[in-house]
Amino acid sequence: MKTITLTIDEKTVEATEGEMLLWVALDNDIYIPNLCALKARPLPDANCRLCWVDIEGRSAPVTACNEPVYNGMVVKTGTERVVRLQQTALELILSTHPVDCGRCGKNKRCELQKIARHLRTKLKQKRLRDISKRLPIDSSHSLFSYDPNKCVLCGRCIWVCKEEQKVGTLHFAYRGFAMVVTAFGGAPLGEADCTMCGRCVEVCPVGSLIFKNAEK
Ligand code: FES
Repeated sequence: MKTITLTIDEKTVEATEGEMLLWVALDNDIYIPNLCALKARPLPDANCRLCWVDIEGRSAPVTACNEPVYNGMVVKTGTERVVRLQQTALELILSTHPVDCGRCGKNKRCELQKIARHLRTKLKQKRLRDISKRLPIDSSHSLFSYDPNKCVLCGRCIWVCKEEQKVGTLHFAYRGFAMVVTAFGGAPLGEADCTMCGRCVEVCPVGSLIFKNAEK
């Protein structure tokens, strides 16, 4: 394991060669918007498209969650084109995400609120049409409920259930706009194989999977 140095927004930091840039930045108190990454996950699928950064010598921005660091790397997290990409990614997510924060159990702890604050933008967007899904909430589980309308399809819950807990109850079903997180065969979560570890709820960045005692 070789220790290297790199520069992020003019700050020189140390890291282990090959670490993912997102975690190096966050560990050094440099915030980069992110939803789908998990530190324990070696190969993120980079599906939220929020963690854009510019790297000196590269013609186009890259996603920080799957970009390994190297010695002498020079990173900028707030260039105009990076912020534009992040704002567009956030707008796309918000076009299907109900913005009713006052009635959400994740209010003030929601990653979308944090990202909007960072980008100095509003959660209620105007550019894209609101295409909320209006799907039923699954409250069948004794520990938590799942609101597919609030789900940002980051896949964190699926990864911890399968790879960390070795249970594999949760999956993505369908494609495109219809995509949801579900148990095998679309069974209600209360009827699915579940060890009640609660990890899926802990890693949910929004109020989609939420413990029943935190619901509003
Ligand atoms: S955190 Fe990098 S694409 Fe989602």
